[in-house]
Parts: sequence; structure tokens; C-alpha cells
Amino acid sequence: MKEYQIAVIGGDGIGPEVAREGVKILRRAAELDGGFSFAFTELPWGCGYYHRTGRMMPEDGLDQLRRFDAVFLGAVGDPSVPDNVSLHGLLLAIRRGFDQYINLRPIRLLRGAETPLKNVRREDIDMIFVRENSEGEYAGLGGRMYAGQESEFVTQTGVFSRRGTSRVIRYAYELARAQKKSLTSISKSNALNYSMVYWDEIFHEIGREYPDVPTKTLLVDAASMLMVTHPERFEIVVASNLFGDILTDLGAAIAGGIGLAAGANINPERRFPSMFEPIHGSAPDIAGTGTANPMAAIWSASQILDFFGHEDWGARVLGAMESVLQCKTALTPDMGGHATTAQAGDAVAQALGR
Ligand code: NAD
Ligand code: IPM
Ligand code: MN
Repeated sequence: MKEYQIAVIGGDGIGPEVAREGVKILRRAAELDGGFSFAFTELPWGCGYYHRTGRMMPEDGLDQLRRFDAVFLGAVGDPSVPDNVSLHGLLLAIRRGFDQYINLRPIRLLRGAETPLKNVRREDIDMIFVRENSEGEYAGLGGRMYAGQESEFVTQTGVFSRRGTSRVIRYAYELARAQKKSLTSISKSNALNYSMVYWDEIFHEIGREYPDVPTKTLLVDAASMLMVTHPERFEIVVASNLFGDILTDLGAAIAGGIGLAAGANINPERRFPSMFEPIHGSAPDIAGTGTANPMAAIWSASQILDFFGHEDWGARVLGAMESVLQCKTALTPDMGGHATTAQAGDAVAQALGR
């Protein structure tokens, strides 16, 4: 029997609380199937670890993670540590170190979830964001000069390499072709006269190999407006690191809330483990209250099942989430209910067995 090795990094704030529920669902799916199982190894990395050791993860953290089939992450970030230190020391270090250059973020209005938009049908909100996840605006290059002087300045350099830009755009074309969907590229070439002009160029260049895929290019400002007024225009969407980050929080909001949105950081070549996580953060404002919505983490868990080829179980987990959302008795407060994180997770686990 196949036993998948999963590293669980609960992280900070509500991270460990929601990750626990994702683990619960994976265990339940394996138990019901009987043909595969999971072995979970919890790694106590994050801001607490930083206060004890001065590092967000051990120096050989990536080496420790390398042997796993996947990483399941809760969330990273605590008010006691500067965000750039905590995120660059753990989450971004893993995305980059493991060349997880594809960030797949489904934005879909599940049955039972409510959109704040008026006059849209459920099937109008059904998109997949393919976010560049290894370079772009997040390259981490730049500097500060003349600190404290009147002439002080900082630079933050975006990096758009041919390899980095091509591979994410090609991935998106392949996905659009496989799903017979349109592909929308997000740009800002009117203002960003090097990076986004280059992005558009590569989008069109690669597009010549995919004449069967209908394409659109939208400027990011107009795209954010259209996601609210005409979400049905978006199917597969490809975007740079920063634009993809921002638009997927907007996407989460129109698809039922940040407590529902999931994402997978994929190394498509499988040279390194991929990492699965909700797209929300550590929510320090509600951490420890037991009220965090575990649905995003559970959706990420379903992406793990998909990634290992158990798409039937991935779909069943989404179905179980939908039945809990529709029945409304086990919703957390962000969705208008009174359930705890664990009760919501238990309800999905139960629904999965039915
Ligand atoms: P956030 O997503 O943590 O919270 C934004 C708002 O949404 C808060 O009001 C929060 O209570 C609510 N919320 C988020 N997830 C929820 C859930 N599952 N259930 C119910 N409510 C939920 O974003 P933020 O406040 O901007 O960031 C907080 C910290 O998290 C910062 O340190 C930030 O850097 C970090 N962060 C980490 C990740 C990650 O680990 N992937 C992602 C985003 C932000
Ligand atoms: C996300 C988060 C991260 C990002 C932060 C915490 C660095 O917002 O995963 O969406 O910007 O990628
Ligand atoms: Mn984000």
C-alpha cells in the first residue's frame, strides 16, 4: 500500500488550527479508500521557533523537507516578528528553494457559499489562477542607500527571466487547452514598460503554438474591476507573482470569503516536494479563539489528493465541503455560523463518509 509522507508546518496564528482539520480530512479519505495512507510529520517551525532559535526554520530545513512527498502548510506570520523576516525565512524560502514556480489558485463559488456580488450565477465564478511563484516582483532584489539621510532611497527590482516567464505562461496554455477554456493574461504594460511589455511579448509568442486556445490580455486595474462586474469572463488566468497575489484575495472575496480559498505551490517536474496551503494568512486577530474557518485548508488538502492522482477523492472532499456549506449547521462565524474550527472539520469528515 502506498504511504505518502507529508510534512506538516502548522506555522503561526490560526495556521496550526486549520492545518489540523486538513490532516483530519486526509486521514479520513485514506481510511475510507483503504488503498493508500498518509504519514504526517509535524515540524514546529514559524515565529515561535524564531524566538527560540533566531531562525524561522533550521539551517538544513529544506534538506529535511526534501524527502517528503508534499508539504502541508497552515500560515506564517506573527505581529512579534517583522513580516518580511518571517515570510522570507520560511514560506518564500520554500517556494523558491523548491522551485515551486506554479501557484494554482482555484476561484470557484462552491454550492452553499455566498458571493457578495449581485446577479451572478454560481457557474459565473469558476476560474483557475496560475500565478508565477518564483521571481517577478518577489525576486527579493534591491537595496537601500543613504539610510537616514535626506537623499535616502530604496529600490525593489522585479525579475522577469525568459525561462521564468515562459514556463508559467506555457503551463497556463497547457491547462487552458486541456480544459478547453479561454486564457486571460494579466498585464500592466502601459506603465511597466520593461517587465510587462516583455510578459505580453512572451504571452503572444507562446500563444502561436496554441491557436486553439482563445486568449485575452487585460490590464490589471481593469481586470480587478471586471472580476467584480463580469466574473464569467475569467476562466484560466495567468499572472505575475504580485498581480496574482492581489487578484486572488479579490477572487476569494467574490467566491465566498478568504476562509474558503486554497492554493497549491507546485514544482511541475516533481524534482522537489510541492506545498499546499490556504491562501489566507495567520489571522492574528482571531488566533486561539477556535473560530477560524478550516475550509480553505481542507480545499488545499483536496489539492494534495489531486496531485497524487486521487482526483476522485479530491472531488469527493469538495463535495463534502459543499454539503456542509449547504446544510449551514456547521459554519464558522466568518460565514455567519457558530461552529468551531474542529466542528466544521468534523462535519466535512462525516460528510465524506456518506
Ligand atoms: P489574513 O488572511 O491573515 O487575515 C485577513 C482577515 O481575514 C482577518 O480579519 C482574518 O481574521 C480573516 N481571516 C483570514 N483567514 C481566516 C479564516 N480561515 N477564517 C476566518 N477568518 C479568516 O491577512 P493579514 O491580516 O493581512 O495577515 C496576517 C499575517 O499573516 C501577516 O503576518 C501576513 O504576512 C501573514 N500572511 C501569511 C500568509 C501565508 O502564510 N500564506 C498569507 C497571507 C498573509
Ligand atoms: C500569499 C501571501 C504571501 C504572498 C505573503 C505572506 C508573502 O500573501 O500566499 O498569498 O504574497 O505570496
Ligand atoms: Mn496573498
